[in-house]
Amino acid sequence: MQSHNSLEGWSSPSRFRRLITGLSIGAFLVFIAGGPSFTTAQEKKQAATATNSSGNATSARGKYIVTEVAKCGNCHTPRMQNGELDYSRWLAGGPVPYLPAQPQGDWPLLCPRIGGLPPANDAQMITLLTTGIWTTGKPLRSPMPEFHMTRADAEAVLAYLKSITSGRGATQ
Ligand code: HEC
Repeated sequence: MQSHNSLEGWSSPSRFRRLITGLSIGAFLVFIAGGPSFTTAQEKKQAATATNSSGNATSARGKYIVTEVAKCGNCHTPRMQNGELDYSRWLAGGPVPYLPAQPQGDWPLLCPRIGGLPPANDAQMITLLTTGIWTTGKPLRSPMPEFHMTRADAEAVLAYLKSITSGRGATQ
């Protein structure tokens, strides 16, 4: 709109307006033609989580590790009644999705929020992701995996987690 206003002095504003309208419709058609054919609705929702981090290669790699490799969201995202992940609360924390087949004394019931402001400082988060050791000096309880990521991967994951809008999740 702004560029339009700044060009208001053109000798033929209506032609200009037609051009802009044509371009907009063209861009929209490309968008809707391209979109559904190679992304599922779920992938599009996940892609929305990168909104804050577009153009940031480190964070993009972190997103890939979190969503496609380590699957942090399977535990750290709450589910809807039908059992599917609630992407509107992406990585906002939720109940542990399963119990052990054999009784185990110290099974956690909560997967804490990890999106947005990290629950520990950068060095502690990197230690957790590269060694599996938490701020307590011990590993977290199962089913939290003991990750042994490379430092670069851990930094990418941390950058991505920080890029998520805290508490409100992916789509807002
Ligand atoms: C299989 C389920 C599962 C997966 C997958 C998983 N977590 Fe966890 N995570 C947990 C559980 C359960 C806890 C709580 C452990 C406890 O209370 O001892 C936890 C705790 C944490 C904590 C500590 C938070 C706090 O405030 O105490 C961090 C940080 C964390 N996870 C990050 C991650 C990241 C990053 C990933 C992916 C790279 C990930 N988790 C994948 C289940 C999971």
